[in-house]
Amino acid sequence: MNKVPQTVAIIMDGNGRWAKAKGLPRTAGHKQGAEQIRVIALAANRMGIKKLILYAFSTENWKRPEDEIGYLCKLPGIFFSRYIKELMENNIRVTFAGELERFPESTQKVIRKAVDQTKENTGLNLDIAINYGSRRELLLGMQAYAQEVAEGKRENNLTEAEVAQYLMVPEDIDLLIRTSGEERISNFLLWQIAYAELIFTPVAWPDFDETALQDCIDQFNHRDRRYGGLTS
Ligand code: FPP
Repeated sequence: MNKVPQTVAIIMDGNGRWAKAKGLPRTAGHKQGAEQIRVIALAANRMGIKKLILYAFSTENWKRPEDEIGYLCKLPGIFFSRYIKELMENNIRVTFAGELERFPESTQKVIRKAVDQTKENTGLNLDIAINYGSRRELLLGMQAYAQEVAEGKRENNLTEAEVAQYLMVPEDIDLLIRTSGEERISNFLLWQIAYAELIFTPVAWPDFDETALQDCIDQFNHRDRRYGGLTS
């Protein structure tokens, strides 16, 4: 039995600690972290994963020092100028989840361009969560729903299945991985991970390579997913 999870979410943690352990500035950890986005996206695409959602910047990350935020805002530009060609060659579609308006116009422009360039691709959907927070996502969804009801656009009869259409990430997650040893969800995809398998690996994100991903998928394959029922 070797199932590939359809939807994989990763909390990319440990960039700062990785850099510190090497006597490097935190930004060096983020730089290597961006390289691993390329490595893991290509590997996930080869493995047949349909959607890979990476938590790159949370609504809480604005509390970080200005120079670190400035560097993180520049990374999408560096990343796509280097790798957009390879993403295209590999049929990878790039999307973003989160409120992008808070980022500098130059960052938004780079992001919109990558999304537009890759929109017809049919392979892996690489979805990068930036300025994303799950509680905020749920709140915005509730507000949108309430407004539709208030304006008479729909009945007040929302079903569980319909909630997804009000979210930034509509899919259920099969496998959630957090790197670097912390065992927390940190406001990521709270609705979507209802039945996800969770894996917390000690590997720091800048060291998380194809072998580490395969190891997580092997562990996923040994889990017995019962969704509240009994083992078959
Ligand atoms: C968590 O490590 C990492 C982040 C908050 C940033 C993640 C961003 C990237 C990997 C690059 C984004 C690039 C693109 C192209 C969107 P941490 O800094 O919290 O590490 P620590 O817990 O060891 O301090």
